[in-house]
Amino acid sequence: MIDVQSLAMRYGPVVALDGVSFQANPGEILGLLGPNGAGKTTAMRILTTYLYPSSGTAKVDGIDILENPLEVRKRIGYLPETLPLYADMQVEEYLNFVGKARELSSKSLQERLGWVREACQLKSVWKHLLCELSKGYGQRVGLAQALIHDPKVLILDEPTSGLDPIQIIGIRSLIKSLAKEKTIIFSTHILQEVEVLADRIVIINEGKLVAQGTKRELAEKVLAQGQSAKELSLEDIFIQLLAPRKTVNA
Ligand SMILES: Nc1ncnc2c1ncn2[C@@H]1O[C@H](COP(=O)(O)OP(=O)(O)O)[C@@H](O)[C@H]1O
Ligand SMILES: [Mg+2]
Repeated sequence: MIDVQSLAMRYGPVVALDGVSFQANPGEILGLLGPNGAGKTTAMRILTTYLYPSSGTAKVDGIDILENPLEVRKRIGYLPETLPLYADMQVEEYLNFVGKARELSSKSLQERLGWVREACQLKSVWKHLLCELSKGYGQRVGLAQALIHDPKVLILDEPTSGLDPIQIIGIRSLIKSLAKEKTIIFSTHILQEVEVLADRIVIINEGKLVAQGTKRELAEKVLAQGQSAKELSLEDIFIQLLAPRKTVNA
């Protein structure tokens, strides 16, 4: 569903991405894991066609992001790192506005507004101003705007950042429930988040791909002789993958 091919991005002298390739299969939740500054947001901005890469490309649902960015945007719902919310709009007005910008017919817009209101549990704040919302509800509205046009692909940049533990549980279960019908890529620097949410993991560090695979596949890359994959926590795996390469099996 998503095929990232040797993406590179330079901001002047800063190399934010250095030839990164990875794939996400249909219906999969892919966790993009890496420390701050690894290049996660840059990769997501390129995939959602808000940034033009220095080189490389990607396909979303078979469509090239450079050749046909508008068609790619139609297929993607995007929760950016910081959402441009209009403080003086009510939740309903804002989602209505996003739906119109997405060119939904008035009939399907009404259907979708009803759907996101339920799915993102926005009933209690439906008529509230955006500036009145807690961070947790702000993220729910962010997810609702990403879902309004029922996209095949969801790209979520640190969807639980800044939330309290109860809100994190809520957002994670919402993401899980969406995965049945959608391909989801989310980014995080929190190991536990990929552990609970992701079917497959892509680890990037300093703009480079470190490894990709299921937790088990990643474990197999760092197994010592006689050790079983089950004995390794994701933390062990992550530390070893980011450690000097001599400890990692090719
Ligand atoms: N607009 C920009 N101008 C210059 N450097 C940038 C810009 N955006 C990001 N960077 C740099 O690119 C690198 C990757 O950043 P980013 O993609 O935001 O990483 P992440 O989301 O993993 O924290 C960092 O070194 C960051 O400072
Ligand atoms: Mg980021």
